Amino acid sequence: MSLDQKAKELQRQGKPVISFGVGEPDFDTPQWIKDAAIEAMRQGKTKYTPVAGIPELREAIVRRFLREQGVEYPSAGVVVTTGAKQALYELFQVLLNPGDEVIVPSPYWVTYPDQIILAGGVPVIVPVGIERGFAFGLEHLKAAMTPRTRAVVLNSPQNPSGTVLSQDEVRAIGEFAAANDIVVVSDEVYGKLIYDGLSHRSPAAASRAARDVTVVIDAVSKSYAMTGWRIGYLITSDLKLSQAVQNLQSQLTSNANTIAQWAATAALDGADDDIVAMRDAFEARRNLMVEGLRRLPGFETDLPHGAFYCFPRVRELLDHPPRGLSWRDADELAAYLLEEANVAVVPGSGFGMPDYLRFSYATSEERIREALGRVEAALKA
Ligand SMILES: Cc1ncc(COP(=O)(O)O)c(C=O)c1O
Repeated sequence: MSLDQKAKELQRQGKPVISFGVGEPDFDTPQWIKDAAIEAMRQGKTKYTPVAGIPELREAIVRRFLREQGVEYPSAGVVVTTGAKQALYELFQVLLNPGDEVIVPSPYWVTYPDQIILAGGVPVIVPVGIERGFAFGLEHLKAAMTPRTRAVVLNSPQNPSGTVLSQDEVRAIGEFAAANDIVVVSDEVYGKLIYDGLSHRSPAAASRAARDVTVVIDAVSKSYAMTGWRIGYLITSDLKLSQAVQNLQSQLTSNANTIAQWAATAALDGADDDIVAMRDAFEARRNLMVEGLRRLPGFETDLPHGAFYCFPRVRELLDHPPRGLSWRDADELAAYLLEEANVAVVPGSGFGMPDYLRFSYATSEERIREALGRVEAALKA
């Protein structure tokens, strides 16, 4: 977010900055979803709702999950929050006692370790780099487990690598976690943005016992191009846990925005045509981005199957820079690209992997082509 602000600042100064830094779709929210919000306002649905959200939305969430994953949760286990971020925050707050460990595969979305620390927990970072295809697996979980392990975070498709974990691996982790009483915090916010004919599998689908140790975190933010509406949610079968989350939320924000809850209900109950169209556009952009990145000297680029990010390793470039150029680390390289090429990318250090850069392709094909051309030129300087 701070990088995005810097890029916008340069744009305001008149620099032709193209940002690969953004973490949100560039598409507008589909009109029929906006219409549902307008209709809600017309009907006077502008008051407080129950802390956990309107029953219509909680039931729509349960229906969606059942339809997509074949797993049924009780609607009393759903808590609607102000974005997935609040769901994660509240979950860690109620779940963790001081010193409890949470296994976090790296690269990770920047927020997990800090939220775990804020809750008095200890993030146990497990690096899984490009040489392993960023694929966290059961062997990693077993190796990192201690008697203090309370939870493991799974995020597939992953931010920042775009990695989609294999269905077999997800199932194995779900079953192992159930057998060892480890909570699986499954962040599925990119679950609808998957390419190459693959599909998203939640660990909750592994077995009944896996469902019961899995807390699903999701949101309409990324899949419906609704980041600004701030509607996320958690789903659990543990009603004591969902009640504890509600108790905490009732003293923080009460319910999530009422009007946005009605819009999210329409989104989840609606047809998938717009989501599919956005996904197809992202897939075409992914292809363009990977092709361009693979042409760059010293870049090692995996083919990501989900989300809207590429996460190339640039160690080779840092070790063997073009003549006349040198950078201490990927942070410096990112700063150079912003200044020289007016292209904003996010250094991997924020995601726990300092030798990498994150390129978001949530921008038009034209801009992707233009910006990649500029990066290529800047690296030949
Ligand atoms: C992996 C992951 N989880 C959660 C979120 C937060 O989503 P929301 O905007 O719904 O709070 C993000 C946003 O970037 C994300 O990348």
